[in-house]
Amino acid sequence: MAIEREPTGIPGFDELIEGGFPRYSIVLVSGSPGTGKSLFSQHFVYTGATKFEQKALYVSFEQRIPEIYEQAKRFGMDFDLLEKQGKVRFVFYDISNRVLGEGETYVELIKREAREFNAKRIVIDSLVPLANFPVSVDELASYGFINEIDKLMPIGISEELLVRMQVHKLMSTLKDLRATSIVVSEIPKESNWLSRDRVSEFMADGVIVLHYLGIGTTSNRSLVIEKMRGTKHAEDVIPMEIGKNGIEVKNPRDEFKVPK
Ligand SMILES: Nc1ncnc2c1ncn2[C@@H]1O[C@H](COP(=O)(O)OP(=O)(O)O)[C@@H](O)[C@H]1O
Ligand SMILES: [Mg+2]
Repeated sequence: MAIEREPTGIPGFDELIEGGFPRYSIVLVSGSPGTGKSLFSQHFVYTGATKFEQKALYVSFEQRIPEIYEQAKRFGMDFDLLEKQGKVRFVFYDISNRVLGEGETYVELIKREAREFNAKRIVIDSLVPLANFPVSVDELASYGFINEIDKLMPIGISEELLVRMQVHKLMSTLKDLRATSIVVSEIPKESNWLSRDRVSEFMADGVIVLHYLGIGTTSNRSLVIEKMRGTKHAEDVIPMEIGKNGIEVKNPRDEFKVPK
């Protein structure tokens, strides 16, 4: 049976991946700051809500919602209106407000929001603050990552392991939600890794890395599809632009066009 596809609606992009993300997959969108990761995710949400009657939940850990709406509006995406119509829900979590070990974990919050809203598309923008936020040993026990004995003597649990556990928990929760998701991560310049946490790139079904190279007065944007499970995808560096309608992928190679 053919895999059902979820188009992003980004002009020129979907034909590089057989028409869209595989339904119920999790795609990691990574890149340095300013490469267009949030904008990419907003296209995905907008297309779902306006073209496919799929409600979308956008969880922001970085930018506040009015700022996102304002930026998106400049590219012709009116999320204010879509929110009033009940088609999208944008939530902002200020990670610094959270008291360690108190109340619901962010993963639980996201799960509840997504269920209540019946979201078919989910964006987590981004994993970086979430992954770096410390968790308590009680939370780890509630995730089932450690047992009662470990709780008494939490030795050997490094910071790196905590980050991995958080990301792992989030990704497996997204899998359970039966939605198609984008998780945004960030890579420091010159890094060989594809995500900041170095876990999501392995757990994700797809990985897209956005690049930006500013030389003099010309700017060069491109994307690379590092992986896309169950999909014959373009493997080369794909040029893209951010124009007045947002992201536009240029000159997709003919062999990747889906036959009409
Ligand atoms: N009106 C605009 N026209 C063209 N490019 C823009 C416009 N507004 C923002 N941009 C570009 O889009 C980028 C922001 O994209 P964004 O998705 O917020 O990046 P990221 O989430 O990767 O940090 C900016 O770096 C800027 O270069
Ligand atoms: Mg961003």
